[in-house]
Amino acid sequence: MAEARIPERTRGPEAATPYNTPAKWFHWVTVALMAVALPVGPLIKFVRDEDKMAFYALHESAGLTLLFVAIARLAWRLRHPPPPLPAHVPRPLRFAANGVHNTLYALLILQPVLGFLMTNAFGFPMRGETAYLGFIHFPKFMEPVEWLAEWLKTAHIIGGWTIAALLVAHLGGVVYHQAIRRDDLLLRMV
Ligand code: HEM
Repeated sequence: MAEARIPERTRGPEAATPYNTPAKWFHWVTVALMAVALPVGPLIKFVRDEDKMAFYALHESAGLTLLFVAIARLAWRLRHPPPPLPAHVPRPLRFAANGVHNTLYALLILQPVLGFLMTNAFGFPMRGETAYLGFIHFPKFMEPVEWLAEWLKTAHIIGGWTIAALLVAHLGGVVYHQAIRRDDLLLRMV
């Protein structure tokens, strides 16, 4: 019984206030897109040559959609600040959670931009087989620049693994709140 697990201090005025419905949708759509973009990126180099383009297309379309969703999400958040954490959450935990969330937001913008610029710098704009969502052909807006492409690729790889590490921390926080503190903070987002 969930009720029995909630400590006394999280009830009544101390109970966690939920996020609003659009904020929840933004969160779970981001999770779904990330579940595609993040694993497919590293997989590209391991798949057969004849499948590579399909993997590039999937990764790039999911990644670019993440950028659009992140921009819309941040615009929404600016006008609709998230509900405050309940008073019982200690300061170090608040600090850690805010740090992870803010860095993830920054990378949700930066990582797709790096990826998009990288493919263009390598000379593979999102058109033809890698058109956005399979049918939106972006114009080619730059000539290939080898050194820039390599630099962007390194930054994109670092960005990808940093996101993966932050997601582990984020999920660790969820497990900690649910299993150890038992304060049901997860319910704010469902
Ligand atoms: C938030 C969105 C994104 C995430 C989390 C992400 C993550 C990753 C990761 C983890 C890798 C593998 C790195 C490695 O080899 O260790 C990768 C590779 C790649 N990504 Fe992304 N990516 C995103 C968006 C994009 C976008 C929008 C594009 C292009 C439009 C893109 C283009 C590529 C390409 C071309 C590769 C293969 C690089 C190579 O091995 O040559 N990515 N991505």
